[in-house]
Amino acid sequence: MKKKLLFIIIVAILVLTGCQNVTGNSEARELKLAHNQSLDHPVHKSLAEFGRLVEEKSNDTIQVKIFPNGQLGSEREVIELTQTGAVDVSKVSASALEGFESDYSIFSLPYVFESYEEFEQIMNDKSITDQIYQQTENIGFIGLTYYNAGTRNLYTKDREVNDVSDMRGLKTRVQPSQTSVRMIEALGGIPTAMAYGEVYTALQSGVIDAAENNETALVGNNHGEVAKYYMYTGHQIVPDMLIMNAESFNRFSEEEQAIIQEAADESTIFHEDVWSAAIEEQTEIAKERMGVEFIEVDKEPFIEAVQPLHGAYANDEKTEDIYQLIMGGKSND
Ligand code: GCU
Repeated sequence: MKKKLLFIIIVAILVLTGCQNVTGNSEARELKLAHNQSLDHPVHKSLAEFGRLVEEKSNDTIQVKIFPNGQLGSEREVIELTQTGAVDVSKVSASALEGFESDYSIFSLPYVFESYEEFEQIMNDKSITDQIYQQTENIGFIGLTYYNAGTRNLYTKDREVNDVSDMRGLKTRVQPSQTSVRMIEALGGIPTAMAYGEVYTALQSGVIDAAENNETALVGNNHGEVAKYYMYTGHQIVPDMLIMNAESFNRFSEEEQAIIQEAADESTIFHEDVWSAAIEEQTEIAKERMGVEFIEVDKEPFIEAVQPLHGAYANDEKTEDIYQLIMGGKSND
């Protein structure tokens, strides 16, 4: 109830400040951009670069104001704000978008990509991504670009997981995505879908035994303080998505739309280096300062355990087209 009220207050503030002009330049328009990472997270840095590029390319006639740290709500809430236009742009995980457009669920299908290179090849193929990004226009938003959010691996408070059998009964947090819920079930664990901001406390209090994410969750979100085993299961490569309210985008001239799109594309390239450096640095910090153990596991039994999900996914009328599109895209390289 309290949360709902807070959400309503946030929406009201955003709507009321919607027409504000930040530069004193009467031509300037402001884009509100929301996301759930901290200021020193690599994704925040790349979003700041997006903002800088938009401002530079538009001679400051378009300003970008960033609301970080999940201050405008969980990813689900922020997607809703982007749909209504209370927020213009947001960065959310593709997994969180699954509840809004089923095509985004392909990214949560475990082991759908065999390597990061394969993932990158698909994500940089506009003939594939355009179809995914544009089709949500009728529900209020479009995709602008993606950011590398690494490979997702399992981490636990106090249990080493070396094989699928070690997953039995493991209460594991997943993103709010049905595909991720099914993945943990197929592996024998007990899935709990919850918002990212709640994971630290849930681990600490024992509501969950495990979570899964890229390495930055350990340091940037302090999960390494409570979770001491990080297993390289590599089960998902889920991109972060930059989405924009469709009306807000369409209100700009064609030239301005091109500026926003270019800035988005360039920030994705910028992000690659920022990301690799952060993973290297944060893995070291998690190891040395937090005492997290990083463990290599044989992925084969995990891959095998989730095969029924692939079969079901390929034959479900809601997901068969996107499955074929991605699989076909992989073989066209
Ligand atoms: C990643 C992703 C976030 C997401 C988080 C999660 O960190 O970049 O956008 O919220 O995973 O597990 O919820």
